[in-house]
This record gives sequence, C-alpha cells and structure tokens, in this order.
Amino acid sequence: MLTVQQLRKEYASKGGVPTLAIEEVSFHVKEGEFVSIVGPSGCGKTTLLMNLAGLITPTSGEIVVNDRQVVEPPEGVFLLFQEYNRSLLPWRSVLANVMYGLELRRQRSKARHPEEQARRYLEVVGLQGFDRHYPWQLSGGMQQRVAIARALTCEPEILLMDEPFGSLDAQTRSDLEDVLLKLWDEFRQTILFVTHDIDEAIYLSDRVLVLSTRPSRILHELTIDLHRPRSQLGTKADRRFIEYRAQIYEMITTNASCRS
Ligand SMILES: Nc1ncnc2c1ncn2[C@@H]1O[C@H](COP(=O)(O)OP(=O)(O)O)[C@@H](O)[C@H]1O
Ligand SMILES: [Mg+2]
Repeated sequence: MLTVQQLRKEYASKGGVPTLAIEEVSFHVKEGEFVSIVGPSGCGKTTLLMNLAGLITPTSGEIVVNDRQVVEPPEGVFLLFQEYNRSLLPWRSVLANVMYGLELRRQRSKARHPEEQARRYLEVVGLQGFDRHYPWQLSGGMQQRVAIARALTCEPEILLMDEPFGSLDAQTRSDLEDVLLKLWDEFRQTILFVTHDIDEAIYLSDRVLVLSTRPSRILHELTIDLHRPRSQLGTKADRRFIEYRAQIYEMITTNASCRS
C-alpha cells in the first residue's frame, strides 16, 4: 500500500549550511494497518509526512503509494496537519469547513450529496448540531474533530496524521484517541500517525516505528501485540504495554545521549 525506500531529505539554505532532516528511512505499511511513528521533537517527522503527501520532494529515495511513485500529491491520501486551528478557515462555518476538503480535491462534483456526506461525518465525530457554528466558537478538541471530519469526508484510503492531538489537554486527547480508534474500526483506512508521545503511539497502533534524533533513521520497529478493542485504563495497565513503553523509552534516551 505504502512503501518508503531509502528516503533522504536535506533542506537547502541560501548561502548557509543545509539541514539534513532525514538521513535514511525505509518502511512499508500494509492496507488497513495502523502504524505510528514516534520520535523526538525536530527529528524530521513532519518532513517525512510532507514527503509522503507529495508536498515536498525527497533528496533521494522513493515513495510508492498503490504501486505508483509519489511525485505530486497522490489521490486517496489525506494529510491532517499538526495545527488544526490554522488549517480551519475562520470565516467559514463548521459545515463549510468540512465541505472545503471536497472542494479542494475537486471531489465535490464526484460526491453526489456533498452536504449530506459532510453532515454524516460531522455526526461520526460527535459534532451533530454544530454545523452552523464557526471554528472560533468551538473548543480546541471540537476544532480538531472538525478537521478529522473534513479528512474523513474525503474518504481517503490513507490518512497521514501529524501530532493531531499534541496541543490538547489530557482528557480531550484520550477522548479523541478513542474516537479515532472507533472510526478506524469502522472505516479501516490505512493510518500513519505521527506523535512524540510514546504511550499514545503504543495505545493506538498495530506497529510503532521509533525514529532517532535528527537526522532521522529508524531505530526500531515494534509490533504491538495488545488485543482490541483497547481501553485507556485496561490497555495501559497491561504488562506488555508497560514493557513496550520501557523498551521505546530506553531506545530514545540511549540514542539521545549517544548523540549529544
Ligand atoms: N522548510 C524548511 N527549511 C529548512 N529547514 C527545515 C524546514 N522544515 C523543517 N526544517 C528542519 O528540519 C528538521 C526537522 O523538522 P521537522 O520535520 O519539522 O521535525 P519534527 O516534525 O519531528 O519536529 C528541523 O531541524 C527543522 O528545523
Ligand atoms: Mg512536526
């Protein structure tokens, strides 16, 4: 479904030293899989997703989505940005924001009932009744739900999520993690979820890729053998959950101290 082969990304700088963000990263994601990428701040996670979404070009290496090399934004892939409050349009209502996804992708003409589709996904994320509100009238968690509804309305095969819950309070964050797991259970998109939060990565995923500090490489790949459906209390108290957390934590701190 999604293959990254020896991806390397260096940012040029005018007259200065270029920044090597990604040294070399290779991995594969299967259809319907939920994979998280965890790594420290500044290690190149957003850079990786921007490459996958076809928004920037790799320095070398290859990205293949559905047997086609990515050279422009591929169809069926949706990138949910880190800063939801900047991705929503303040002058548009909640419903119009959700429909904007379809407009951008020129899917509006393809979707037979775009408004109905948008309303359906607003309901899926628990925002029925808020369609006439404006983003600034909603809490952070609700705004992020709008952004998720907009992504879902485009019915992407692959959803790329860049630290989507990073700036939310702990309670809203765990609520939205569970909303996401429920959605994934229903729609089974392929999800690549980027976070710097180890617990979040383990809790959500089938597999976790651990990135090094910049320039990033994959330090380790961990298959998460925890049964589903997961629950915030039960899953996080599971002995294996605690072992996975210790394993990843140790890998990240050892890597950080080796490099500093
Ligand atoms: N457009 C850009 N131009 C130059 N350097 C960049 C650009 N975007 C990111 N970087 C640098 O690349 C590195 C990785 O950034 P980023 O991918 O945003 O990391 P993360 O998402 O893991 O925090 C950082 O050192 C950052 O300063
Ligand atoms: Mg980032």
